Amino acid sequence: MSIDLMPNRFIHGEVTLAPREAALVNRRDAVLGASYRLNYRNPVHFVRGEGMYLYDPDGVRYLDFYNNVPSLGHSRPEVVEAVARQSSMLNINPRYLDTHLVDYAERLVATFPKSMGRVVFTCTGSESNDLALRMARFVTGGDGVIVTEYAYHGTSAAAAAISPNLGSAIPLGPYVRTVRLPGVHGISDSDSAAFFRSEVEGALADLIRHGIKPAAFIADSIFSSDGVYTDPAGFLSGAIKSVRNVGAVYIADEVQPGFGRMGETMWGFARHNVIPDIASLGKPMGNGYPVGAVVGRDAIVDEFGKAARYSNTFAGNTVAIAAASAVLDVIEHDGILDNARRTGASLLNELRRISKKDNRLSEVRGTGLFYGASIGTDEHTKDERRQLSREVVNGLRDEAVLISTTGANEDVLKIRPPIICGDEHVTMFIEALERVLDRIK
Ligand SMILES: Cc1ncc(COP(=O)(O)O)c(C=O)c1O
Repeated sequence: MSIDLMPNRFIHGEVTLAPREAALVNRRDAVLGASYRLNYRNPVHFVRGEGMYLYDPDGVRYLDFYNNVPSLGHSRPEVVEAVARQSSMLNINPRYLDTHLVDYAERLVATFPKSMGRVVFTCTGSESNDLALRMARFVTGGDGVIVTEYAYHGTSAAAAAISPNLGSAIPLGPYVRTVRLPGVHGISDSDSAAFFRSEVEGALADLIRHGIKPAAFIADSIFSSDGVYTDPAGFLSGAIKSVRNVGAVYIADEVQPGFGRMGETMWGFARHNVIPDIASLGKPMGNGYPVGAVVGRDAIVDEFGKAARYSNTFAGNTVAIAAASAVLDVIEHDGILDNARRTGASLLNELRRISKKDNRLSEVRGTGLFYGASIGTDEHTKDERRQLSREVVNGLRDEAVLISTTGANEDVLKIRPPIICGDEHVTMFIEALERVLDRIK
């Protein structure tokens, strides 16, 4: 039986929709491409967002414990004002001189290790990864790419071809090799680094044996689609040495963990005490405004840039930069990383407390404000675990709390609130989760 790659979704006929939502779903289906999916068994319909909350047309307030794009909260006033102000004054592309672009570029690279001194702007995380791959292939002269077993790196043709998460209908490129993550396969912390290094070395050897020169190892620094694997801190570093030993580069996909979500530092790779050759950014960079970037080692970005012209119509335009600058201002002045660390610690404690008394929450992983909670035990079949996860996510939806699932079997709760989340929101979430778990006993 093939696995439903997106179990947390609306399926026609499974629930009876309210007339207003039924009519809207029908109109959507008649006009939108069939590749869209709606989250939740009973889809949610929103008209407004503010801070940690989203509101439906009847004024019902949903607690958002899922969205990492409006990382500083929905409709964050500083970002809204910056976008409105800049839109009313000037919006040009980066081929004209503009102080804001350079100011922001300087501030952004200052948050990276010194060796990563160049930035190129993009519009999405997929475009960032696409460009990172082009740079890696250009400077190494290779083609081979190593990814984790259930990685997701985006929607462009090149990014989809390195995204096993998209399922077997979307083929991986012949130059792609996948590696197993230690945590997913029950490897002890003390053996994790050696296990992962040997996985990566095996993949490098296999590429070379097939006449494919390795270009890059790319990893989401928090392994979000693999099921959220943060520990043991540092387990990546040996593997990256092996990648560099054969002349390939390490791309850190920071689209999920970047901009402070992990609490400890701005960037997820820092947890592994490694410095990437290239980092790709997206999602929270503009708090909802589409803006992304590639930040890389000077020599790599310059070598590529001298040969290849790269700019596009919208990337790095003045309004995008205004949004991104406002995001950095808030992160710098509002103690956002401290909050992710502090509130994240209470959230983790609470999840572990539940896990101790209820073995259906079998393992909790993560750091800052990004957690994966595995559902089910060895006594459950894979199907039962996936089904149970779906019940929890939809039970929470009925309690007006948003989360979703992740992992190869979609049996890990993905808990990833905006990073302005406070203790009161943690309490609301935990109480709702306990009610749902009680209900589906
Ligand atoms: C790790 C990772 N990389 C890249 C992307 C692609 O970003 P975008 O949807 O902005 O193209 C995503 C999106 O979910 C992601 O999770």
